[in-house]
Amino acid sequence: MNVLLLGSGGREHALAWKLAQSPLLARLYAAPGNPGIAEHAEIVDLAINDHRAVIDFCIRHSIGFVVIGPEAPLVAGLADNLRTMGVGVFGPNKLPAQLEGSKGFTKDLCAREKIPTAGYVRVESRDGGLATLDDFPLPVVIKADGLAAGKGVTVAMTREEAEGAIVAIFAEAGGSAVIEEFLEGEEASLFVLTDGTTIVPFGSAQDHKRVGDGDTGPNTGGMGAYSPARVLTPELEAEAIETIVKPTIEALARQGAPYSGVLYAGLMLTPQGPKLIEYNARFGDPECQVLMLRFEGDLLALMVAIDKGELAAQPAPVFSAEPALTVVMAAKGYPGTSETGGGIRGIDAAEATGAKVFHAGTRRHGGTLVASGGRVLAVTATGASVREAKAAAYRGVDAIDFPTGFCRRDIGWREVERER
Ligand code: AMP
Ligand code: GLY
Repeated sequence: MNVLLLGSGGREHALAWKLAQSPLLARLYAAPGNPGIAEHAEIVDLAINDHRAVIDFCIRHSIGFVVIGPEAPLVAGLADNLRTMGVGVFGPNKLPAQLEGSKGFTKDLCAREKIPTAGYVRVESRDGGLATLDDFPLPVVIKADGLAAGKGVTVAMTREEAEGAIVAIFAEAGGSAVIEEFLEGEEASLFVLTDGTTIVPFGSAQDHKRVGDGDTGPNTGGMGAYSPARVLTPELEAEAIETIVKPTIEALARQGAPYSGVLYAGLMLTPQGPKLIEYNARFGDPECQVLMLRFEGDLLALMVAIDKGELAAQPAPVFSAEPALTVVMAAKGYPGTSETGGGIRGIDAAEATGAKVFHAGTRRHGGTLVASGGRVLAVTATGASVREAKAAAYRGVDAIDFPTGFCRRDIGWREVERER
């Protein structure tokens, strides 16, 4: 089967690497791709927001299946358009992708289905938002309704900060926000595969969102991650599936909008049990990198079965018992304006240490590899413990010569402390 993979980050390099191992794969194409993805796929020049162009490409190249990596094409309805044309797709249609596309959609679904999540109020105007703040103790969480690439959330410690966040959201035309209760606990990410009926757990992870060591500084897309998240014990995972994921999938199916793909549940493990922070309609980045390093099955076969509604007939996914850990190397300045164009050497040396280096924001310039985005590489390794996986990942990092880059040195610290 010929497959088209959409996306250009570390997540998509990890997916390409795993898809390339499938006996079902004939040719793999990717757009926009990156130099790491190019090791496994033919990179094609395709504007992925031009759905007509994507469909034409699929017809001309006999593409049987499209794997959509990022959320934006899902929320824009690319999966619906491909399915209408008879092309198989990994990823949900537009309506179920609203689980990620609209915080308000998800909160209202949770309220109807009595799914444990932070108490909230949806607000549609600046003045309404400012008045609603009176009803919430501090800290309070303010979220822009739509897709915001991880930048739409403010955890406000003061009233001024909360007011500032509301004013900023409604400064844009068509602004809409959710104000919600601050949840206390440890965060963990749970991944499930579903075809809208069958739900299969697909591993867990914890990531590090802050840019600096000790979880300090501004939020990023994720500076590192490890899998599994042992705080999410088998009992808590079962509870989260029963009380959060299952009622969500069932509610969407009842609405005639079954969810197909991976559902990523961001959970807060509170003293009252797991509560939903947010849903994502795709794999996490860099969580995907650690999941793919641990996953031992045929990814393409699983994805095709999900699209056909045949997940129940698939063998249960098997993951290596060894944990995996990934360290993101970013370009200086990230998550602000990052310094692109800096040279990168030593990827082969890093892989010779046993690490797997996934490309995120890289491109080739002449004969050299250079940084082209904020997050540039995800250096990933497994080990007998998180401590050993961490040591192995940093051996890889230290073999890389990337003078305009930086990384955190403490990825996995919570788990390493717990292992002591
Ligand atoms: P989100 O984009 O919804 O995942 O939010 C980004 C981050 O903000 C989360 O990973 C949490 O660290 C934090 N956050 C979001 N909602 C809440 C909440 N209700 N209580 C505490 N922290 C939250
Ligand atoms: N690493 C967080 C995300 O992919 O949303």
